[in-house]
Amino acid sequence: MKSVTIGSNLFYNGDCICGSAEHIATDSVDLIITDPPYGIHGDRMDRHYNRDEEFVVDGYVEVPEEEYGTFSERWIREAERILRPGGSLYIVSGYTNLYHILHALRQTSLVEVNHIIWKYPFGVYTSRKYVSSHYHILFYEKPGGKRTFNLEVRFGREERAEDGGCLNYLDREDVWTINREYKPGRTKNKNELPTALLTKMIQYSSNEGDLVCDLFLGGFSTAIAATGLNRRCVGFEVSEKIFEAGVRETATVRPGELLETLRCPVVRGPANLRKRWRPEDLRRLRTRYRELTKKGATKKVAVETLAGEFGRGRWAITYALERAGVESRRKKRGTE
Ligand SMILES: C[S@@+](CC[C@H](N)C(=O)[O-])C[C@H]1O[C@@H](n2cnc3c(N)ncnc32)[C@H](O)[C@@H]1O
Repeated sequence: MKSVTIGSNLFYNGDCICGSAEHIATDSVDLIITDPPYGIHGDRMDRHYNRDEEFVVDGYVEVPEEEYGTFSERWIREAERILRPGGSLYIVSGYTNLYHILHALRQTSLVEVNHIIWKYPFGVYTSRKYVSSHYHILFYEKPGGKRTFNLEVRFGREERAEDGGCLNYLDREDVWTINREYKPGRTKNKNELPTALLTKMIQYSSNEGDLVCDLFLGGFSTAIAATGLNRRCVGFEVSEKIFEAGVRETATVRPGELLETLRCPVVRGPANLRKRWRPEDLRRLRTRYRELTKKGATKKVAVETLAGEFGRGRWAITYALERAGVESRRKKRGTE
């Protein structure tokens, strides 16, 4: 299988299932971000996009619908093998063959962390049905190790939006609205992922120097974002034409160049750390907790929200709720 090394990245032009079995060591990858072919006739994908197809690199290799289940099971088993214990996996999927991917994941030891909805405008007009405007991102972890999740890498927990909302909380909701990139007059893959989307996953789930893998490189967007964020990258692309174009583009990226463009979060210890609770604060805490749980927040979410609102650590909130009698009473009533 042909391979190309660019700095500390290694790319293979070939099938990812055999290629990974042959070239990637067990438990060696920190993070996998991948976007498999959708099994919906790649060559007719222009129907789903409002764009000029002239600049789309051809050669996209699709998987026949009737093979999609077996294909998904095979590559997802490989993903499970190469991830380190505690490593993270993000799979981008449309809805047509989502059930195959979910089924394949359930045949492994991988554990769901979040089912994320990526919302963006397709730009397709419909008149007799709703407009399709989302993709699924399945976020899983390999058990047995500590998973990287850089909680304040983008927004400090104390940072507020103009309306008072907690920016850290909002950024970590599981519906992400991120537009596709329109690159007029430039070559692209059939369904290239936006840098903003990839950056978010890479920032939260890896550190500089970590190894990021994409089993279906396509336009090499994962590799380009990972390199720009100073991660190492390994990946596969079966189509020679797409591979060559991707290698050319990745070679122009300076490692770490995206780091300079990232927002700097304001990270502080909680403002009221170790301060005594006044009775009125405890009363307010109790009321807010009830409001949040009444609206459907789990205990974990409510505690996290209150930690931001009251400028305290999560343990301090949990302890204060117990003191205020909210938690013990809830437990006695059997509402937990
Ligand atoms: C959905 S695209 C990936 C798009 C990519 N995430 C991007 O942002 O450009 C899927 C890619 O997988 C490639 N592919 C199909 N079967 C493959 C296989 N068995 N091994 C490696 N790549 C494969 C296709 O040629 C296509 O380029």
